[in-house]
Amino acid sequence: MIIAPSILTADLSNLAVSCQEAIDAGINVLHLDVMDGNFVPNMTFGPPVIKSLRNALGDDVHFDAHLMISNAEECYMDYINAGCNHISVHVEATTHLHRLVMAIRDAGATAGVVLNPATPIETITEILPDLDLVLIMSVNPGFGGQSFIASVEGKIRRLKSMIDQQVANGGRPVQIQIDGGIKAHNIAMVGEWGVANCVVGSGLFNKQASVKENLQALKTALEV
Ligand code: DX5
Ligand code: ZN
Repeated sequence: MIIAPSILTADLSNLAVSCQEAIDAGINVLHLDVMDGNFVPNMTFGPPVIKSLRNALGDDVHFDAHLMISNAEECYMDYINAGCNHISVHVEATTHLHRLVMAIRDAGATAGVVLNPATPIETITEILPDLDLVLIMSVNPGFGGQSFIASVEGKIRRLKSMIDQQVANGGRPVQIQIDGGIKAHNIAMVGEWGVANCVVGSGLFNKQASVKENLQALKTALEV
């Protein structure tokens, strides 16, 4: 199971320090929640902050950008040029999804599509063969620390079946990522559903324990 810390709930006034704490704890991927205040009712950071973070942290850590923005088709290259290795875009915010996914991949990044809780899996049937990752939101996007929406189970299980069938037919494997409300008490459960990559925000960055201690609790939960 990949654990991808969402830096949304890190100390944004000391972002590089918070990220370095996660890297020192053994993390090698950071989930960057980009919000524009339009597609979602919150605003975070964009390419300048990401570029500064890349300069501060070096080239090894994988930057997984989750674009919760209305104009990803116009500005995806800004995120790749800022140092993002992976770009996930919302199906709900994209008119020409196939063109955007192919453009992201042609630019050398891996490409993912994000589905909000109410968005059916069937919206990505045609694009699934071209994806590296599908991100299933288990909260409504915009904020960290929200409650897990358990009703996404059926959607994830159906997606896993679709991907298994695609691979059986010689197609590409696609990673299932989940995002929102993932903690030590439910991370193993979503793994059984077929999730291979968990975004964790407040479950890692909080005042109750260090990132290292919180990461260990997640890993212990996965071992049982
Ligand atoms: C919400 C973001 C999530 C969120 C996860 O819009 O996409 O990545 O920060 O935070 P937790 O794990 O606290 O739900
Ligand atoms: Zn996210």
